[in-house]
Amino acid sequence: MSRPEVADNVEALRAQIRDWRRHGQRVAMVPTMGALHEGHLSLIRIAREKAERCVVSIFVNPAQFAPTEDLDKYPRQLARDLDMLATVKADLAFTPTVGAMYPAGFATKISVGGPSAGLESDFRPTFFEGVATVVAKLFLQATPDCAVFGEKDYQQLCVVRQLCRDLDLPVEIVGAPTIRDAYGLAMSSRNAYLGDAELQTARRLNVILREAAAALAGNAGQKDATDEATSSLIAAGFQKVDYVEARESLTLAPWRPDRAGRVLAAAWLGQTRLIDNVEVPTA
Ligand code: PAF
Repeated sequence: MSRPEVADNVEALRAQIRDWRRHGQRVAMVPTMGALHEGHLSLIRIAREKAERCVVSIFVNPAQFAPTEDLDKYPRQLARDLDMLATVKADLAFTPTVGAMYPAGFATKISVGGPSAGLESDFRPTFFEGVATVVAKLFLQATPDCAVFGEKDYQQLCVVRQLCRDLDLPVEIVGAPTIRDAYGLAMSSRNAYLGDAELQTARRLNVILREAAAALAGNAGQKDATDEATSSLIAAGFQKVDYVEARESLTLAPWRPDRAGRVLAAAWLGQTRLIDNVEVPTA
């Protein structure tokens, strides 16, 4: 298994993509911040089914981290990432520098409304601006036919869809199911921060969200179900719960029982913030 080619600047990326297009090949993109795990590999496998060529960007995007967040600590392991990309036969890794993405004088921010309201934005007010700006740049740099995003970051997926719709970016956004460990814990690069005891607690998150979703499907009141989930998370060992909320799956508007719904949550274990979401089951 050979590692993919690496393009560390936009010119090299575009030259490769031009060459593929000359041969009539479609291009799928998987944007990542590296520290790849099985969840990312599942996105790449889907990308490879959607197009002849797959480009994976690896860029820890400073614009989506608040000054208090873990930008410096965020795991960076390019050699290991390239080895993992070899296992799923990604064609190209795009690894731009911060200076190339945000050169001196860079002064543009993309602010997406709609699904970005509340949830993550209540706790990370500049997060989606950072995500939307970098994703728009990546799409304009790579001009992929489609791009794959995980449902694990469900609000991000909805924001990226809104971004493409609103700006007429001709990129098909494909949502991919969350990959979980044997205990249902959603794969995340931040799981690497968890000690053994924290890992046991983290594995309760999906169970408690599923219980809340089942209660909602069984006509429990929304406040009762989400309050109960919050109490259960604290009892399980989470120190702080940022939110547990039910939202409409498509728009992320407040959920109404006649609509497809999703229960979304963010909670803290020590210094680590975990997010997850599950579907409200339908009869
Ligand atoms: O989900 C992520 O890893 C990041 O938010 C993304 C989409 C790569 C943008 O930096």
